[in-house]
Amino acid sequence: MIGVGTVGGGVAAALLRRHDYFAKQVGVPLTVRRAAVRDIKKPRSVTLPEGVLTDNVDDVLDDPEIDIVVEVIGGEEPAGAFIKRAIASGKHVVTANKELIAKHGTELLADAHGRGLDIMFEASVGGGIPLIAPLRRDLLANEVQSIVAIINGTSNYMLTRMAQEGAGYHEALKEAQDLGYAEADPSSDVEGYDAAYKLAIMATLGFQTRVTPDLVYRAGITTLDPRDFAYADELGYVIKLIASAHRTPDGIITRVTPALVPQAAPLAKVDGVYNAVQVEGDLTGTVMFHGAGAGADPTTSAVIADLIDLAHSVATGSRERKYWQPGQGVPVVGLDNHEDRYYLRLHVRDAPGVLAKIAHVLGDHDVSIAAVMQRETTAGEGTAELVIMTHTTRRNAYDDALQTLRELDVVFEIQQSLPVEE
Ligand code: NAP
Ligand code: HSE
Repeated sequence: MIGVGTVGGGVAAALLRRHDYFAKQVGVPLTVRRAAVRDIKKPRSVTLPEGVLTDNVDDVLDDPEIDIVVEVIGGEEPAGAFIKRAIASGKHVVTANKELIAKHGTELLADAHGRGLDIMFEASVGGGIPLIAPLRRDLLANEVQSIVAIINGTSNYMLTRMAQEGAGYHEALKEAQDLGYAEADPSSDVEGYDAAYKLAIMATLGFQTRVTPDLVYRAGITTLDPRDFAYADELGYVIKLIASAHRTPDGIITRVTPALVPQAAPLAKVDGVYNAVQVEGDLTGTVMFHGAGAGADPTTSAVIADLIDLAHSVATGSRERKYWQPGQGVPVVGLDNHEDRYYLRLHVRDAPGVLAKIAHVLGDHDVSIAAVMQRETTAGEGTAELVIMTHTTRRNAYDDALQTLRELDVVFEIQQSLPVEE
């Protein structure tokens, strides 16, 4: 193992606790031979047998008796270099590292496959929810039409605490960190990078084309205000960080963004650390995967499933693993022509004709208004907060309308703009 933190600690503990059970499933024992960490003196959630823990990663990578390396340190480097060395020395790899797989998975897998080895990454997406195996195998007969998901446990935990219990942003983030859900740098969770990595992995598998994270439009949850939760509730919606990928005639559209979700929709009911992924296949229709998306135990389940699978291949000497290589057939396209409904919150002058001016700009850009709410912000100050729900509109028309609204003297600020995920 490389890493004995939240996930690595869970994996090591389960391997010790269920040693006999796993040995029966694999046919030979699964033993943690060495486990590398940064600081050997740090207190750990698991007590490993004497001599197993090391602060020298070479003890893992250079040991010829080790068949499988479990990388659970995270980040692009040095994890990438460690995995390359493991493969070069003939070891299979299990990883929970979504950033590395999203950015470099295709090359790493090609290198491993070329040497008759495999890299497995079930734990990289959705914690304990089986997602990679279904996308790599069970849904293969389909042309996938869309993937719509709540796929970051930290932000979903925070949004739930903020919307349902009025928790503050920093309080909710601290709780998610204490529970072991957050990345080492939690900005990855709240700025949507973690969800973009996971979406890139799922879209690459689902659409059989290379989707790298830089192609995913991304917005995080940091600009949400308690007022947005209250307005959303009043309008019959909840706010969720939604990762979605849709097949269109022009190509695949991918994005991660906070969005309004109708209260009756299945995704609206996915709360706390739970994740859910809806995959629409042309044969299956919509299938939904739901479960704990982060935390030591659920992620341990995914890591050990991959370990058992690989260990079984090692034990039986089987090299006939089903390798996978994405095609390049379907391009990833921008959001310009994507159609959505929008929630828009504006800080405006409270004077005769203001609403008419704003409605005029939207109308001029072919953006049709579905509902309007106005609140006086501070009595006597002559300013108001305006919340507008639009009908379905093309993204570039809506963006142009926002640009014109910004230039109006009666609009002080565009405070929020969120799509509606129907
Ligand atoms: P973590 O608690 O921060 O643990 C990281 C571990 O890696 C620590 O044991 C650390 O050593 C070790 N480490 C870091 N750099 C190292 C280096 N250069 N050489 C050797 N060891 C090193 O992280 P985590 O939450 O377990 O996450 C690990 C991976 O799992 C990440 O890719 C993450 O995205 C993924 N993941 C996490 C969750 C979750 O719920 N936490 C769920 C799914 C996937 P020290 O202990 O000595 O500092
Ligand atoms: N930081 C991630 C999350 C861990 O909160 O979802 C699981 O991948």
